[in-house]
Amino acid sequence: MRHIHCLNNISAKGTELLTDAYTLSDDALTAEGILVRSAAMHDMEFGEDLLAIARAGAGVNNIPLERCAKEGIVVFNTPGANANAVKELVLCALLLGSRGIVDGISWCKDNADDETIAKSAEKAKKAFAGREIAGKRLGVIGLGAIGALVANAAIDLGMDVYGYDPYVSVGAAWRLNPAVRHAPELADIFANCDYITIHVPALPNTIGMIDDDAIAQMQDGVVFLNFSRDTLVNNDAMAAGLASGKVGAYITDFATPEVMRMEHAIVLPHLGASTEEAEDNCAKMAVRQMMAYLETGAIVNSVNFPACTLGALAAGCARIAVLRANDAEVLGRAELVLRDQGITVQSSVDVTRGDTAYTVYDVTDADTVDSAAQALSDWDGIYKVRVIR
Ligand code: MLT
Repeated sequence: MRHIHCLNNISAKGTELLTDAYTLSDDALTAEGILVRSAAMHDMEFGEDLLAIARAGAGVNNIPLERCAKEGIVVFNTPGANANAVKELVLCALLLGSRGIVDGISWCKDNADDETIAKSAEKAKKAFAGREIAGKRLGVIGLGAIGALVANAAIDLGMDVYGYDPYVSVGAAWRLNPAVRHAPELADIFANCDYITIHVPALPNTIGMIDDDAIAQMQDGVVFLNFSRDTLVNNDAMAAGLASGKVGAYITDFATPEVMRMEHAIVLPHLGASTEEAEDNCAKMAVRQMMAYLETGAIVNSVNFPACTLGALAAGCARIAVLRANDAEVLGRAELVLRDQGITVQSSVDVTRGDTAYTVYDVTDADTVDSAAQALSDWDGIYKVRVIR
């Protein structure tokens, strides 16, 4: 029986896909798989049996990816599964940043007991007048699953959209409406756009990228939307931008003490992916990816190991799956160990991604297979070896 631990509540639409070979367990330390949403895992100790962590969501900044790689734990995310939910909230934020919706709602609440509110509203409303988004320029930083949907939807709403993404995938580029203008440099987005929305992961080279220098290059009164991660924006720079009027409004999905103190910030409690549909989609995708890995060794949508498609295991064969450092010497040593142990390799797949690699040998099953796997796992640079039958 395989033990799976849920660190956060995950939609039952996902966990109900687990077959009778699985059980949900309260103990993270003995689990083979962990399902997680936003729980912070950086200080967690991982059990020896842990093979996979699947995040029901796109961002993985709550998971220690490098440590997991070294411990032979494959981390999965669910790119695109909640993209529509986030896109819809970003569209809402564009309107929140354009019309006096938030202040107008507050005014109505504050005047709830006024029997003549209908009349007073007509007088009060001029304080909440706004502008339309049609015809305005929107800059989208990052054209992955969410950014591309936002860019296309904004075109449909009549906006003039600029997209910046030096790493855009071919698939994402094909899905973009051709009316989205290519911004070769970030500076083009900053200089041209009335609204800017950011859709990039929090990585060492993106954290704090919206700083004093970036804000200084923006249009006066720019509306900035952040539905990606709080750390992308330097809080001191944003607070100063809002206070001086350089930034007209900051709409963020990340409630932190710093943003709560900012003038003209509209703050939401991380609602981007909080829809029933997105939670179901993410949970199903996370569970399916985890089960495929545990049962067959196939890797889809990992963020710390390469993708690996594997065919069915032939009768009479066993699969030796090796998570390792991307180092030719380590690969050479692994092959020597298998040869010394008299293992007959029927077929093999070797894939690499940055510092990590994954090598899968389908071998003739024999008594020596388990001892060969054990011998392999003793070598430096080999993070985890398992035998799948
Ligand atoms: C994401 O990274 O996709 C979201 O933050 C998911 C969530 O809200 O859990």
